Amino acid sequence: MTPDSEPLRVIIGAGEQRWEGWIPTQREDLDLLDRSTWEAWFGERRADALLCEHVWEHLTEDEGRAAARLCFEFLRPGGLLRCAVPDANFPDAEYQRTVQVGGPGPADHPAADHRIVYDHRRFADVFRSAGFTVELLEYCDDDGRFHAQPWDVATGPIYRSLRLDHRNREGRLGFVSLILDARKPPDAR
Ligand SMILES: C[S@@+](CC[C@H](N)C(=O)[O-])C[C@H]1O[C@@H](n2cnc3c(N)ncnc32)[C@H](O)[C@@H]1O
Repeated sequence: MTPDSEPLRVIIGAGEQRWEGWIPTQREDLDLLDRSTWEAWFGERRADALLCEHVWEHLTEDEGRAAARLCFEFLRPGGLLRCAVPDANFPDAEYQRTVQVGGPGPADHPAADHRIVYDHRRFADVFRSAGFTVELLEYCDDDGRFHAQPWDVATGPIYRSLRLDHRNREGRLGFVSLILDARKPPDAR
């Protein structure tokens, strides 16, 4: 835990991910499906920022909606949740085969427990419905066209993104995510 004077920036479902200035947590620490783990971990504190890369697709839509409400509750007013998932509209058959619900086949594949593949509309609604204001940072539209807003890596790095992912080089888009910022309004409680 960081001293109270420092911003509390937390990675949810971090796996192997480590980013400077961010506290990595695993499902055993903060389970998006178990509020009691959040109560125990945060106590009276609230997060300034949460970062969550390729985790929400492991929850059903209903679970994802409840998880969005949980994050809202444990963020301070004005706090930011940056969240990335596979994109249902990325027009690449091999990508879609890999990220599909149930994964591509092998039971030990990291995508074997994928429960949903979001498009931008449904994913944004998950967070808007929880009370967040939402900005799409990277996504494919309904025609499969990729869109990217300029966003600051320093405010929450997402590896599977246009700029950071090693598969996106020399004008080739090899692997994208649907990435959004969900901000808790400053006047929310
Ligand atoms: C594909 S891995 C992504 C790991 C890491 N975020 C990354 O981008 O490399 C999915 C992660 O989601 C975590 N996860 C699955 N269900 C979760 C839940 N209910 N609460 C928190 N984390 C969960 C898993 O433990 C795993 O670390």
